[in-house]
Amino acid sequence: MADAGEIRRFRSAIGQFATGVCVVTSFSENGPTGMTANAITSLSLEPLLMIVCFDRTARTRAAAETSGRVAVNVLSSEQEGLSKTFASKATEEEKFAGVGWTEHAGAPVLDGAIAWFAGALADLRPGGDHEIGIVAIEEFGDAPGEPLLYHRGAYARMMGEIY
Ligand SMILES: Cc1cc2nc3c(=O)[nH]c(=O)nc-3n(C[C@H](O)[C@H](O)[C@H](O)COP(=O)(O)O)c2cc1C
Repeated sequence: MADAGEIRRFRSAIGQFATGVCVVTSFSENGPTGMTANAITSLSLEPLLMIVCFDRTARTRAAAETSGRVAVNVLSSEQEGLSKTFASKATEEEKFAGVGWTEHAGAPVLDGAIAWFAGALADLRPGGDHEIGIVAIEEFGDAPGEPLLYHRGAYARMMGEIY
């Protein structure tokens, strides 16, 4: 077992891996649900697969497991507020207050996302205190816009030209 100091050092080191920021969404019995996530990557082209790493305790993990449907929403630099809200333990209703969305492949896709991927949660595999979700992508899209970035525990923006 890693001690607290080692976990701190690991977080600091892995924080050098700059990422985009996503909101992973699903439907629970109360309606749309979602969480901020950056442990996300593409996995396969044939078939189209993505990986989403879920904290075992995330309510969105439970909703995704039950509904079997997931969307990955890539946030724009204008959506830092959304990222903070969806990283919280606010209720689903609070998280989605004033947030526009449409349903694609059985999952909520957020207005203003610069890219989105929706489909079936094909597998959930153990990964320590997380679970590795494999999502079979059925619908996806993208739009122009600057991505929101995350580096060493802080939000960041691209410097220079986006093309
Ligand atoms: C930048 C950032 C990235 C995050 N990445 C993940 C992630 O990849 N997987 C995860 O389970 N939680 C991640 N979290 C934490 C969740 O957003 C947080 O636990 C959230 O409260 C879960 O909400 P839920 O319980 O409503 O699903 C991240 C938080 C932040 C701020």
